[in-house]
Amino acid sequence: MGRTLLRTLAVLLCVLTTCADDTPKAFNLEKMAGRWFRVGMATNAEWFVKNKADMKMGTTVFAPTAEGNLELSSAILKDDGTCWRYSNLANKTDNPQRFVYHSKMWNNNNDMLIVEAVYDDYALISTNKTKGSESYVTTELLSRTQEARVALQQNFTQFSVLSGVLPENTVILAKNDECPEEPAVDQ
Ligand SMILES: *[C@@H]1O[C@H](CO)[C@@H](O)[C@H](O)[C@H]1NC(C)=O
Ligand SMILES: *[C@@H]1O[C@H](CO)[C@@H](O)[C@H](O)[C@H]1NC(C)=O
Ligand SMILES: *[C@@H]1O[C@H](CO)[C@@H](O)[C@H](O)[C@H]1NC(C)=O
Repeated sequence: MGRTLLRTLAVLLCVLTTCADDTPKAFNLEKMAGRWFRVGMATNAEWFVKNKADMKMGTTVFAPTAEGNLELSSAILKDDGTCWRYSNLANKTDNPQRFVYHSKMWNNNNDMLIVEAVYDDYALISTNKTKGSESYVTTELLSRTQEARVALQQNFTQFSVLSGVLPENTVILAKNDECPEEPAVDQ
């Protein structure tokens, strides 16, 4: 009894101070909410290799739902001034950092892992995309700002290469003006 109380007190103290530092921090989906700039992208997929030199930065808004799923709304400003917008509702899985969705636009299945996240700074995302018998991996560097520090770019390249992408297919995207924000859609 006394021992349990002591342990409880110790845990409480840990919560109140910083001694929980050596335990892995729990992933917090709510903190992923809001707008991210897609600063880097990497994949060996042919469509990307062909177009990578012309690709520009876009944004993705993460909106966790009450059920724990994740609404992803992306926008990229095109050269003609119009916006290319697409969105997907990604289903939660047993792993809090992993989500799955079917993309209507690409007609592929996406298995997405939020590998690392510093919520007010950057996130590294890896997605396995499958269409029929073909599959490939994409990685993304998301940032809260349009800038990515050199150290972060290096991290992203390393992460992409470890994910199986060739170094030359790891791209920091050209800066781009932003699309106007869409009014929130009631669901
Ligand atoms: C996501 O969940 C919905 C509702 O349960 C289901 O109909 C849909 O097939 C799921 N999508 C994927 C890609 O798992
Ligand atoms: C993608 O596939 C690779 C190889 O099969 C696997 O190691 C990795 O965990 C998968 N990633 C996701 C996000 O499912
Ligand atoms: C690079 O990645 C490592 C390991 O994931 C992390 O500890 C470090 O903070 C990252 N560096 C930057 C600049 O984000």
